[in-house]
Amino acid sequence: AKNVTVRTLAKMKQAGEKIAMMTAYDYPTARLLSEAGVHILLIGDSLGMVVQGQSTTVPVTLDQMIYHASMVSRGATNGAMVVADLPFLTYQVTPEEAMRSAARIMQEGGVHGLKLEGGRELAPTITRLVQAGVPVMGHIGLTPQSVHAFGGFAVQGKTADAAMQMIEDAKALEEAGAFAIVLEAVPAEVAAAVTERLAIPTIGIGAGALCDGQVLVFHDFIGYTSGYIPKHNKRYAAIADTIVTAAQQYVDEVQTGTFPGEEQTVHLQRNEHEAFLE
Ligand code: KIV
Ligand code: NA
Repeated sequence: AKNVTVRTLAKMKQAGEKIAMMTAYDYPTARLLSEAGVHILLIGDSLGMVVQGQSTTVPVTLDQMIYHASMVSRGATNGAMVVADLPFLTYQVTPEEAMRSAARIMQEGGVHGLKLEGGRELAPTITRLVQAGVPVMGHIGLTPQSVHAFGGFAVQGKTADAAMQMIEDAKALEEAGAFAIVLEAVPAEVAAAVTERLAIPTIGIGAGALCDGQVLVFHDFIGYTSGYIPKHNKRYAAIADTIVTAAQQYVDEVQTGTFPGEEQTVHLQRNEHEAFLE
């Protein structure tokens, strides 16, 4: 992807060209995904679950997000836009605190934009950030930072009223100046209704095919995750099997003495060998 910006994304929606977003948490992954043409790299706070092994995204700190953001930013050499999540309770308390959190992750993490979870209640905060020059991506539907308030991870917007509320939230975020909105775990019909009513692109995860773009969690996409796999995920590779098979072979070769072989071994030259033996 060539130098993707908020303007590129707006044009893509107008042209009906779909947006491919993927999470990335480190430098090599960012390099490869960017090279492959992924339009937006997201440093998702899902890293709490897929990288840190936590059961929710709630424990992820701003410092951890900055650390990962700096690695991803250095790897996004091929024009992908780099967006980071603001983690739990670093933006909800006051707009001022959101501004300070945004300053840190934009300046120390080198990202181009930020994603915030929430509906219309965030509009004043988003307006402030956007006025200050921070591109903001919204995120509604299942917002995992609120897992303890939801009482679990479940599909959102299933009733007519919940769907109407979601449309209103999306419109409020657009009006506040968001450049795109993630729809997570939303029935396809509801996601399509939201997408139709917005000028800015929607990016779905578990939200059907009619969103303006899609996002997947890298570790789920590449088959690097163990245990629970969400229904919306598609595994494009089975990297876990590759790692286990390689590691089993390595253990075996170390134990049998097959590794290191001659190709991996340095020997003394004849004269060095004689000096060594003296
Ligand atoms: O943290 C994350 O990976 C996300 C995406 C699933 C949108 O927020
Ligand atoms: Na997230």
